[in-house]
Amino acid sequence: MSRKRVGILISGRGSNMAALIEAAKVSDYPAEIVLVASNRPDAGGLDTARAAGIAAATVDHTAYGKDRVAFERALQAVLDGHRVELVCLAGFMRLLTAEFTNRWQQRMINIHPALLPAFKGLETHRRALEAGVKIHGATVHFVVPEMDSGPIIAQGAVPVHDGDTEQALAARVLTVEHRIYPLALGLVAEGRVRVENGRCVIAGAGTTDTTLIVPDDGR
Ligand code: GRF
Repeated sequence: MSRKRVGILISGRGSNMAALIEAAKVSDYPAEIVLVASNRPDAGGLDTARAAGIAAATVDHTAYGKDRVAFERALQAVLDGHRVELVCLAGFMRLLTAEFTNRWQQRMINIHPALLPAFKGLETHRRALEAGVKIHGATVHFVVPEMDSGPIIAQGAVPVHDGDTEQALAARVLTVEHRIYPLALGLVAEGRVRVENGRCVIAGAGTTDTTLIVPDDGR
């Protein structure tokens, strides 16, 4: 089996990155992580990647000022240098241009800490608490030019408890992120995900293969 070569883009601690690295250690996982790249030199995930023996690179966006195209050209060169076939955004905090996202169309996925299409953008957990939703979660989706809007590959849901803090809710959501991201990458790497009319159809999968519902976390 030839495993898809995956590059992960991060900006921070990289716990989702670590979950993907862990999943890819299993010999029959259909993807291998060949590169971790950060736009921030101080991203904690870079050390985690190096400790796991994975090439880690920094493409510091501040070196390019407002020139997003030049930044992305440098990023593309690093991805090309490692012959990356699929890109995973994992807490990557830069908006990408339409040119870049179109180049990686259906070959770049992202994890978002909310049940899309609800709560696009930042501070999802605070906004979920303010809205009083009873169920919250995370989504893995293909990246399209419009932020947090591409076809949905997998979702994981958790309850919102009375009296939850933003931190407690974020931690609960993070545990499902770490489960659905490896699941979604596996499906994409196996070539089982195709997009029809803007929606993902997963070959040979029942709904339960792409949804994860965690009804209780022991409280
Ligand atoms: C995660 O909540 C992810 O969904 C969001 O940013 C956070 C990154 O966390 N996009 P980590 O760097 O993966 O730990």
